[in-house]
Amino acid sequence: MLNFWIFEFGPKEVLTMKKTISFTLNGEPIELEIEAHLTLLQLLRDKLGLTGTKEGCGMGECGACTVLFDGKTVNSCIFPALEVEGKKVTTIEGLTDAQGNLHPIQKAFIDFGAIQCGFCTPGMVLSVKALLDESPKPTEEEIRHGIAGNLCRCTGYLQIIQAIKAAIEQR
Ligand code: FES
Ligand code: FES
Repeated sequence: MLNFWIFEFGPKEVLTMKKTISFTLNGEPIELEIEAHLTLLQLLRDKLGLTGTKEGCGMGECGACTVLFDGKTVNSCIFPALEVEGKKVTTIEGLTDAQGNLHPIQKAFIDFGAIQCGFCTPGMVLSVKALLDESPKPTEEEIRHGIAGNLCRCTGYLQIIQAIKAAIEQR
């Protein structure tokens, strides 16, 4: 059915159409030509090799693919790559400082055992960063709300909450 639709109404050129985009990625300006249908996740992982951003559900449900878009969290698996034109994107690779030191949120996650398999961790850490940038001293309820879109199958969340509270104290 889908193939029939493409044959009838959507020429292959639509799927291979390319466009040049310019944006800021982890503090550096970047310009490249991409296929117009790419998601931001495909752009980051497949075109730019930034594999710190993970693909879980691929449907906007789990938060594993979370990145920051002008400082706000987005699920990159369902976010059109073309939307980044002129914007700022931050991935987990962009959280370390110039010397390669981990961000305090990352250190706290390690210190408190808030990482087990680690698959949810990049997205979780970026959600925490967005939360603390907007609200430096969130309540526990606000913390839980801030990470509500990031599912973790391993930790039970207790260590994650502890790590976030520790990161807040260190600020
Ligand atoms: S992989 Fe994007 S929300 Fe699950
Ligand atoms: S540490 Fe495994 S999913 Fe969160």
